[in-house]
Amino acid sequence: MWGNSMENLSRCCVLLLMAFSHILGQDEPDGQRAVQCSSFMGNDTSFPNATIVTEDAMEEVDNDIQAFVNCTQPFGVILFSTPIINTLTTVLVDMPMTFGTVNGTDVVFNCPTSGSIFDIRSPGVTLSNMTFANCTSLDGAAPVHISNCTSFQPPVRLENVQFQSNANSNGTAGLDISLGCNAQLKNASFFNNSGLDGTAIDIKSGSLVSVTSSNFHLNVAASRGGAIQVINASLKIRMCNFTSNKGANGEGGAGGAIYIWVRHYEHVNSLKTALCISASSVLCMFNHYF
Ligand SMILES: *[C@@H]1O[C@H](CO)[C@@H](O)[C@H](O)[C@H]1NC(C)=O
Ligand SMILES: *[C@@H]1O[C@H](CO)[C@@H](O)[C@H](O)[C@H]1NC(C)=O
Ligand SMILES: *[C@@H]1O[C@H](CO)[C@@H](O)[C@H](O)[C@H]1NC(C)=O
Ligand SMILES: *[C@@H]1O[C@H](CO)[C@@H](O)[C@H](O)[C@H]1NC(C)=O
Ligand SMILES: *[C@@H]1O[C@H](CO)[C@@H](O)[C@H](O)[C@H]1NC(C)=O
Ligand SMILES: *[C@@H]1O[C@H](CO)[C@@H](O)[C@H](O)[C@H]1NC(C)=O
Ligand SMILES: *[C@@H]1O[C@H](CO)[C@@H](O)[C@H](O)[C@H]1NC(C)=O
Ligand SMILES: *[C@@H]1O[C@H](CO)[C@@H](O)[C@H](O)[C@H]1NC(C)=O
Ligand SMILES: *[C@@H]1O[C@H](CO)[C@@H](O)[C@H](O)[C@H]1NC(C)=O
Ligand SMILES: *[C@@H]1O[C@H](CO)[C@@H](O)[C@H](O)[C@H]1NC(C)=O
Ligand SMILES: *[C@@H]1O[C@H](CO)[C@@H](O)[C@H](O)[C@H]1NC(C)=O
Ligand SMILES: *[C@@H]1O[C@H](CO)[C@@H](O)[C@H](O)[C@H]1NC(C)=O
Repeated sequence: MWGNSMENLSRCCVLLLMAFSHILGQDEPDGQRAVQCSSFMGNDTSFPNATIVTEDAMEEVDNDIQAFVNCTQPFGVILFSTPIINTLTTVLVDMPMTFGTVNGTDVVFNCPTSGSIFDIRSPGVTLSNMTFANCTSLDGAAPVHISNCTSFQPPVRLENVQFQSNANSNGTAGLDISLGCNAQLKNASFFNNSGLDGTAIDIKSGSLVSVTSSNFHLNVAASRGGAIQVINASLKIRMCNFTSNKGANGEGGAGGAIYIWVRHYEHVNSLKTALCISASSVLCMFNHYF
């Protein structure tokens, strides 16, 4: 009890101190910069409800995108206007919100020293107009990780995103979708990534995933699913191209393009080739067992 109230008291003091340093514009005692949300929010009159991330704003938060997320309310919008973002640490997103860009910018994220670039722990998050490239994961974390899906809707959306030349020897080098998470990808491109399994997209049990108008080219898995691995989950593919993706034993060997494990399956074809051009089919599934 006592310990708790002391803790509350000291928290309260810290908050007061923060409030003062905000007012005085001083640095925190530990050297961390005090960040004023108002200094980078609502500055652009064309986007009154969005945080516009400019180079100046990035400088202001010491390249820590988390500061913008912390300043955002659920269903908020963060738009990047600078093409390259130096991601130093993982961006943790635990509420529905949108990340995009303004004026046709395609933002390229640099790689954090550990962990994912985006650790999405909420439904209803959208990532648009971004590129994740040249990241080598040393700890098995995928560039984008989706988890903690307590409700099925709304899905996490990825639009106009590119994953290029990422490597992860102990996992996926693209998008990692945990138990029961729903995701929709549109106009995504996965090129030259290498991973252990489900190199571009790894879909775990109970998830519902759709991929539309996307390209999977030259992705390689050391084990299964050069492009996609689906374990006991639902995958819909529309208008996607799968070319030159490889699993462990080469083309088709262990799901060159897509490795699917389903307990009960119907209308499931055998995957014998790593190439799939599905121009109009609503649902195309492939299956391969060892
Ligand atoms: C901005 O938010 C306010 C209050 O939430 C809302 O009334 C307004 O329509 C929003 N404007 C835009 C452009 O979304
Ligand atoms: C936003 O506007 C405030 C004043 O309203 C200014 O102090 C701040 O520097 C601006 N921030 C950016 C990133 O332009
Ligand atoms: C964001 O919020 C979390 C949790 O409240 C905190 O631990 C973290 O230091 C904050 N990060 C920034 C950059 O403000
Ligand atoms: C993404 O870019 C397109 C094309 O520039 C633009 O129309 C769209 O509004 C952007 N979306 C977001 C969420 O930034
Ligand atoms: C977007 O482009 C318009 C027109 O070129 C410009 O006025 C505006 O400042 C730009 N917005 C941002 C946030 O860069
Ligand atoms: C990734 O690295 C390659 C080779 O160094 C380079 O050509 C390419 O521009 C990089 N991609 C991005 C998006 O930075
Ligand atoms: C998981 O989601 C719930 C409900 O959306 C949220 O309250 C909680 O903070 C999330 N957990 C983590 C670890 O982010
Ligand atoms: C698809 O995404 C690419 C970038 O990855 C972008 O250049 C292109 O405009 C997008 N196409 C559509 C129809 O949005
Ligand atoms: C493919 O990715 C690897 C890194 O995993 C890189 O060394 C190589 O240059 C990339 N190739 C192309 C064609 O981008
Ligand atoms: C690989 O990842 C699994 C969990 O996904 C973990 O148990 C294992 O220790 C990791 N192996 C290495 C070599 O990092
Ligand atoms: C498959 O997924 C369902 C939920 O969709 C779950 O109830 C079941 O336990 C899963 N089975 C296995 C073997 O993972
Ligand atoms: C897939 O390939 C076909 C034939 O080359 C092409 O017309 C189509 O635009 C490609 N689809 C995507 C999503 O790029």
